[in-house]
Amino acid sequence: MKIGLLGHGVVGSGVAAIIDANKTWEVEEVSVKKILVKSEAEKNDPRCTTDVNEILDDPDIDIVVECMGGLEPAHTFVKRALANGKYAVTSNKKMLAAYCEDLFEEARKHGVTIHYEAACGGGIPWMASLDRTRRVDDIQSFRGIFNGTTNYILSKMKEEGSDFDVMLKEAQKLGYAERDPSDDIDGYDVRSKVALSVVKAFDDLVDVNAISTYGIRNIKPFDLQYAASIGRTVKLIGMAENFGTSVSAFVIPSFVRDEDLFAAVPLNFNIIESRSETLGAAAFYGQGAGSLPTAHAVVQNVIDIVKNQDPEINEKTSRPVNNALHEGTFYVRTDKTNLFSSVIDHPINEHAFITRRIPLSRLDEIVRRTDDPLLFAAEADA
Ligand code: HSE
Repeated sequence: MKIGLLGHGVVGSGVAAIIDANKTWEVEEVSVKKILVKSEAEKNDPRCTTDVNEILDDPDIDIVVECMGGLEPAHTFVKRALANGKYAVTSNKKMLAAYCEDLFEEARKHGVTIHYEAACGGGIPWMASLDRTRRVDDIQSFRGIFNGTTNYILSKMKEEGSDFDVMLKEAQKLGYAERDPSDDIDGYDVRSKVALSVVKAFDDLVDVNAISTYGIRNIKPFDLQYAASIGRTVKLIGMAENFGTSVSAFVIPSFVRDEDLFAAVPLNFNIIESRSETLGAAAFYGQGAGSLPTAHAVVQNVIDIVKNQDPEINEKTSRPVNNALHEGTFYVRTDKTNLFSSVIDHPINEHAFITRRIPLSRLDEIVRRTDDPLLFAAEADA
């Protein structure tokens, strides 16, 4: 089968490198025919073109692999590829989480499929494992450290007592970070990954904007030190739980117990855990970002298409996100503590406190009203 590659950056160049290396007989069955790049200056391979039509309208190309990132034109290109009867593979979680329904519908209409293992968990076979688990059982919930950049920052801040900004720059240099740092540090990257995991885990669509999202932009060494003083490690967690007619889904820094496996996840590594009745808890650990691990997942999907596996063609319904269903105690640091008086259980100091047990939706409501750009919130007993 012939591939048209959209994008030749961190992930795209990794995909071309793995396929060109022809290491296994499965990989030998596919080849990259054309590569879309943005400008003449980026043409560093004879297969490069700046004209997307050379890929989308080429009847010889069976699979379009999108590694461009961003919403547009990636969305339009993938939709056109599907409309032209081509299979699609994407590593672009932001685009797919925003246009899931639209692209799935387009794929169904044209009898092809869209695959997105690399969009969530990088090289970890998380999505594939969800498919396998669901062949036998319903998945009740999942939780994960889905973002390498923030895990790198949090690990280094804990280890070295370093400042947030210094560690962000270091993670960006290592090539894990998104183009817009806000996607990583404000939790939006994890939010997209949670939305896509919901599709796989619960076979339903959720509105990505309805997922409560808290990031680590405002974290201070004090927050990590307080967590450490009560035997906790701060990790940015994405989680969802299946409640039948609705789901809870959120992204929030969490004080995980030091003895929890999640607390030990270092640097840019990811861990994601599903829970189902017969399998119980099953956790997947590995490289969640980076050129070759992510490209590995893309190539796995290409081989799924060659072997006609993971068809992902059934119609899905949308389910509401209801975070009144997730209760917890929360750590909040803000200059506007007075606005939280009805939910404070005990103060830590003048600006930081732990809430009593409340629904996450209640925290969301007060945080919105507080409108403090420097507020930091975390789940205190995760
Ligand atoms: N920015 C993402 C991360 C890349 O740091 O995990 C992989 O999705």
